[in-house]
Amino acid sequence: MNKADLIVGLQWGDEGKGKIVDHMAQTHDMVCRFAGGHNAGHTIVVEDKTYALHLIPSGVLNPKATNVVGNGVVISPVDFIEEMSQFDDLNGRLFISDKAHLLLPYHAQIDQARERMKGDKAIGTTGKGIGPAYGDKIARVGHRVGELQDTEKLASKIVEYFEQNRAIFEVMGVDIPSKISLIDELNEYRDVLAPHITDTTLLVWKSLKDGKKILLEGAQGTMLDIDHGTYPYVTSSTTVSAGASSGLGLNHKDIGKVTGIAKAYCTRVGNGPFPSEDFGDGGDKLRDRGHEYGTTTGRPRRCGWFDAVAMRHAVRINGVDQVSLMKLDVLDGFDEVKVCVAYEVDGKEIDYVPYDMQDAKPIYKSFEGWERTEGAREFDQLPDSAKSYIEALEDMIDAKIGIISTSPQREDTIIR
Ligand code: GDP
Ligand code: IMO
Ligand code: MG
Repeated sequence: MNKADLIVGLQWGDEGKGKIVDHMAQTHDMVCRFAGGHNAGHTIVVEDKTYALHLIPSGVLNPKATNVVGNGVVISPVDFIEEMSQFDDLNGRLFISDKAHLLLPYHAQIDQARERMKGDKAIGTTGKGIGPAYGDKIARVGHRVGELQDTEKLASKIVEYFEQNRAIFEVMGVDIPSKISLIDELNEYRDVLAPHITDTTLLVWKSLKDGKKILLEGAQGTMLDIDHGTYPYVTSSTTVSAGASSGLGLNHKDIGKVTGIAKAYCTRVGNGPFPSEDFGDGGDKLRDRGHEYGTTTGRPRRCGWFDAVAMRHAVRINGVDQVSLMKLDVLDGFDEVKVCVAYEVDGKEIDYVPYDMQDAKPIYKSFEGWERTEGAREFDQLPDSAKSYIEALEDMIDAKIGIISTSPQREDTIIR
């Protein structure tokens, strides 16, 4: 049977997944999100227009593609509806799983209250309510999109939930709405979303059976995965390729080519370990040249060097067939480009990701810099030192770099 192509982030998110999903969506019939929520911010630049997508799949800019938000996603109806309003032709090409969980305003209030209470141990979440929404799902007290069919019943369940948690919510400053206002709010959500809600698992199965080309769009990145990332400084979902199966209702045999997205350097937004972070001029220059400010929260991203150890880990976990190396142009004009090739932990050199990355000190290898790669569309247009850098990375990460991106624009992409 036909297989779906998968895109996953290999670092701490913001690798440039949106650009590559949009690029590949031009030749796919369907694009599906399988995890995360509106904590994601996927930027797509088409000529002089920039789109920031949070919940709607990045296939939306291909008018022929159907877009699916799978059961593994948590959906904030208010934010989803606002995002939908940018596009006027979504009927029949945007579908939401009836099994996806609702992320409601109180989830964001709980998220922000927990972060405040943690003080300097805060995770640095996006404050959107992702952790509390997935927490409710796993604790089996969440509410699913399909429940919008009967808003009166759903409102009663939510009121019951508020009653059970009243004491905690009061401490956290969570607003407790009346049942009447809750029903009004849920009715508004239902009126807009109802035409888009369906059993997306059946839809995806049928599309695969009919020979349609399907692209699965990961959110966040491997090092933010709830199991395989730098816990507890992670997000609350399975961001790695395994999440694509459970988050859509596919089995692993349905998944074909896996493209892992990685920047030619490294960034992280929020707190937590980042061994190859550059606190000096190098980090500032990367942030400046790479415009490294969050798409969702506008926060400055922490910047540093390509971490080949974490990347090998990510390539293995995701079963990556090819890597798409993004933002090579941001390294233009550096005299020297560094790569973290091993860590030092307790005086010992290691070549794997340790239990607690906080203790890992980077061991670097230096490469000669280059003048310009910006806008290159052929591998042969790249300076020799940039080619050597890419070839050295391939050796270090045990994966082929099949795509290289040299600007935010769709066309400035090298396919090798
Ligand atoms: P995502 O979350 O993985 O989709 O990535 P984001 O959209 O949050 O961040 C990536 C940023 O880099 C966006 O602003 C993109 O427009 C931009 N970008 C993507 N590829 C390139 C590239 O090759 N060069 C440069 N300079 N910018 C890029
Ligand atoms: P995209 O899809 C980068 C980070 C947050 C925080 C941690 C937990 O654009 O790559 P959460 O709000 O999810 O509970 O926050 O995860 N984070 C991201 N960082 N890109 C993202 O998504 C992210 N989504 C969450 O900054 O450190
Ligand atoms: Mg992003």
